[in-house]
Amino acid sequence: MVIAVLRERAAGETRVSATPETVKKLIALGASVTVEAGAGLAASFADADYAAAGARIAQSDAAAGADIVFGVQGPDADLLAGAKPGAWIVAGHDPFAQRPRVAAYAAAGFEALAMEFMPRITRAQSMDILSSQANLSGYKAVLIAANLYGRAFPMMMTAAGTVSAAKVFVMGVGVAGLQAIATARRLGGQVSATDVRSATREQIQSLGAKPIFVESVKGIEGEGAGGYATEMSAEYQTAQAELVSSHIAKQDIVITTALIPGRAAPRLITDAQIATMKPGSVIYDLAVAQGGNVEGSVPDQVVERHGVKIVGYSNTPAQLPADTSALYSRNLYNFVAAFWDKDTGRPVLDDEIGTAIRLTQGGKVVHERLTQ
Ligand code: NAI
Repeated sequence: MVIAVLRERAAGETRVSATPETVKKLIALGASVTVEAGAGLAASFADADYAAAGARIAQSDAAAGADIVFGVQGPDADLLAGAKPGAWIVAGHDPFAQRPRVAAYAAAGFEALAMEFMPRITRAQSMDILSSQANLSGYKAVLIAANLYGRAFPMMMTAAGTVSAAKVFVMGVGVAGLQAIATARRLGGQVSATDVRSATREQIQSLGAKPIFVESVKGIEGEGAGGYATEMSAEYQTAQAELVSSHIAKQDIVITTALIPGRAAPRLITDAQIATMKPGSVIYDLAVAQGGNVEGSVPDQVVERHGVKIVGYSNTPAQLPADTSALYSRNLYNFVAAFWDKDTGRPVLDDEIGTAIRLTQGGKVVHERLTQ
């Protein structure tokens, strides 16, 4: 049973889907591992370390003979030449944006497994790539914003006068938002945060930040299936916009993380609201790849509007690839290990998780979210 680890080809992608640590563990399970030469370089993992862990280093045709191919992003089908019929392609496939590629997997007879569709159930927590990557994204977004900000975060009283604390507002308090709050607090910022899910109010407070919530609309409970947000009513959206307008004008740093599964990211900040902010303020739009929470944010660029910098890096996890790769690789190892079947010497999926993550099988696209 051969697992192939490919070098990522997408522009700006620095992560890798296995580390020397997880290669060793996969071999201990009973797999053989092939790593494409240079796969880990951008994440600070050398070929020699993979070889020392027991991997075969492939200079070309890395997927040849593979039963399972690992990727961070879905590899183009032409990189899969020689993989076994029915081979699993395990990656963050971004299936809605990459429909032609998913169709190509089906046509080639591969079974594409989308790790971002992992259900949010207790036993799958250790395989949840969205959480492991979002956590570090929330951290890094605050550091990047702090670097672009022309002032300091903590309050400092010096002989030359007082430096005031930065006011940081986090919009969307899921995994990334919670880590953003914690990081901004550690840097000495004065932090406030908002979300549509009322359950987050206590979490915000427990991190020492101030919750900013719409109180005027009755019967709000923005929590839908699996702990994710739902789309809010027009009445709520208006009340939220008013609340944000009055609050945002006083903020120095805003980090937005709001997502709604299967839909475009909600628009939380308009250009008119940006115009009310102080020059030199920084907004980091972590949702830019899903359409953006911030009007005017541009993927992979820092743009300036009304003197405010808007950061639109679309792949924030790639900004700290050693750690994000280590966690991503463990997610993939945990996945293979959880389903490992000793008798056949390969993983066998169960129905619950198989149905949730399987995109293609038997020559067809089979996932209901793609076939509807
Ligand atoms: P996400 O990445 O889908 O969204 C980020 C945040 O934006 C969420 O908190 C969401 O409520 C918020 N949001 C959406 N629309 C908004 C709006 N219009 N205004 C303000 N905020 C808005 O969410 P993420 O980070 O994946 O986590 C969602 C929940 O799932 C959390 O409660 C988390 O603790 C839970 N979770 C559960 C897991 C498990 O049980 N295995 C694993 C990971 C997370």
